Amino acid sequence: MSELEEVDYGPLAGLIGVWQGDKGMDIAPEPDGTEENPYYETITFEAGGDLKNAEDQVVAGGRYHQVVKRKSNEFVFHDEVGYWMWDAREKTIMHSLAIPRAVCVLAGGTYNGEKDDEGNVILEVSASVNDKDWGIVQSPYMQKKAKTTDFKHKIVVGNGKLTYSETTMLDIYGKVFEHTDDNVLTRQ
Ligand code: HEM
Repeated sequence: MSELEEVDYGPLAGLIGVWQGDKGMDIAPEPDGTEENPYYETITFEAGGDLKNAEDQVVAGGRYHQVVKRKSNEFVFHDEVGYWMWDAREKTIMHSLAIPRAVCVLAGGTYNGEKDDEGNVILEVSASVNDKDWGIVQSPYMQKKAKTTDFKHKIVVGNGKLTYSETTMLDIYGKVFEHTDDNVLTRQ
């Protein structure tokens, strides 16, 4: 799927590939406190070309699949699919994701050449149930019992390495819980 001869993936170009990492740490809610789950994972990111919206907006990007396994028992305990997209004209990064808890997120952010000291690209997106542009859609059950209220995702990518940290704010078990995930992956 591509409308232009040369696709401009912008800051997303470095994501394309297969990534593996075994330094993951998940902090998840439990009725009586917190669960810590060390994990390993594979993220596969495929280049998807570009397309035009309303004959005007050019969006380039690709689809990813993230498969996360608990270190203690090798059980897949998180599976996520989505797209990362880049609008070069507006310098906007968009990240859609869906997880099989009936929660979907469309997060957004801007990219103006942010890099760390080693020249790695820094991508940052966020979404909130209260944001009119970048939102969260979830089932009636989740809205009532385990509501995702805010989402932030930061990726630093370059030189064969991808580091991410993700914060998902939950309203669960009658309290606000900061559900976090981070890992360091290398390109395969
Ligand atoms: C590497 C990424 C992630 C991992 C490993 C992970 C893992 C977990 C774990 C272990 C739980 C505790 C409940 C259980 O044991 O099943 C949990 C709960 C939850 N997660 Fe995640 N999660 C990740 C990312 C996300 C993201 C991106 C979202 C949504 C945007 C999300 C939404 C939720 C919600 C709503 C719950 C509460 C459901 C419940 O505990 O009943 N998670 N997650």
